[in-house]
Amino acid sequence: MDLMEYQAKQLFAKHGVAGSAGIVATTAEQARAGAEELGGKVVVKAQVTAGGRGKAGGVKLADGPDEAAARAEEILGMQIKGLTVHRVLIAPTADIAEEYYFSFLVDRANRNYLCIASVEGGVEIEEVARTNSDALAQVSIDPGVGVDEAMAREIVTEARFPAEVAEAAVTMVQQLWRVFIDEDANLVEVNPLARLADDSLEALDGKVTLDANADFRHPEHAEFDDQATADPLEAKARAKGLNYVKLDGSVGIIGNGAGLVMSTLDVVSYAGQEFGGQEPANFLDIGGGASAQVMADGLDIILGDEQVRSVFVNVFGGITACDAVADGIVSALGILGDAATKPLVVRLDGNNVDEGRHILAEAAHPLVTMVDTMDGAARRAAELAAQEPSPAPPPR
Ligand SMILES: Nc1ncnc2c1ncn2[C@@H]1O[C@H](COP(=O)(O)OP(=O)(O)OP(=O)(O)O)[C@@H](O)[C@H]1O
Ligand SMILES: [Mg+2]
Repeated sequence: MDLMEYQAKQLFAKHGVAGSAGIVATTAEQARAGAEELGGKVVVKAQVTAGGRGKAGGVKLADGPDEAAARAEEILGMQIKGLTVHRVLIAPTADIAEEYYFSFLVDRANRNYLCIASVEGGVEIEEVARTNSDALAQVSIDPGVGVDEAMAREIVTEARFPAEVAEAAVTMVQQLWRVFIDEDANLVEVNPLARLADDSLEALDGKVTLDANADFRHPEHAEFDDQATADPLEAKARAKGLNYVKLDGSVGIIGNGAGLVMSTLDVVSYAGQEFGGQEPANFLDIGGGASAQVMADGLDIILGDEQVRSVFVNVFGGITACDAVADGIVSALGILGDAATKPLVVRLDGNNVDEGRHILAEAAHPLVTMVDTMDGAARRAAELAAQEPSPAPPPR
């Protein structure tokens, strides 16, 4: 699970890493109150799990509470790399002298942990790696030993952190190592790790990816997950145990198997070019056992997305054969009744395909069109999405 900056900073604070955890705000008024509490100049930062927030206009300085409210107003609701900003972090403005880069990560290829550090921070580290790889220290860490003080010193030396900050860096490296190990993270990244005017160090940004396989050891991490699912449709899908990701297009997608759904997204996106750029509205994998209830839950969520204008159900019958899936679709439409309002294009193939198609043909539901091939069905779904009237503006 990728954490947002404010969540990463909560873990940093827990392990004593220097730097303000800040105050989270979901409205401009809360941002004003946060800035009042902090006093002085603040920075207002978009909270999304995507990089490049600063470049996208999601990190802004504010002189005081009024300006913090105004900046928050601009940033809340902004889209950054397809993610809507639902929260901002209000943090005190740091007096930055230099910006460094620091990270711990799992080095799968070498079955090891790796530390990457550089005095060329603040910018994208990929850029440093390309243009100035000498400025990048890479230190592998023996998992059996970990990062003790001696190892932390070695890292700080390799990274060529200036002597004035070396002691502070040795402390912070060990604290970040505790975050990495004790919280079961795959990645802990601080960019920028800032040297302030008084030669102290602060983590001004934080990126942490937690290892989901270790969730059972961390019941306290569950709240991060709940906070992360800010999209109401995604929250609803999660409550139903569905694998759903909201996207920006108009063609709702249901499929069985993550690989099939991924390729369905590609095929719809391609077919949609012919019809004014129709794009998939979501990813939804209903898994192997496509029962009527799961199908109904999936359709219910997709039809609840006001951007959706047509739905493409793409199922390859395997252990759950096509006739069972077809029964599922028919009963799902029965369960939904009048709530089913958008045209459905169904492509069935695989085990018991003839029986499946027969069931759908018999049911002759007015909203359902069957198309035998995946390309043909994608094309039809995109065409229907283009024909449907534009959705009413969202009731928000
Ligand atoms: N508390 C702060 N005080 C002063 N300047 C800050 C503060 N936080 C961030 N900045 C400045 O804004 C820049 C961008 O901030 P940050 O690293 O948090 O976002 P980002 O790099 O755009 O996002 P991401 O790391 O997700 O790509 C920093 O490099 C730093 O110069
Ligand atoms: Mg950053």
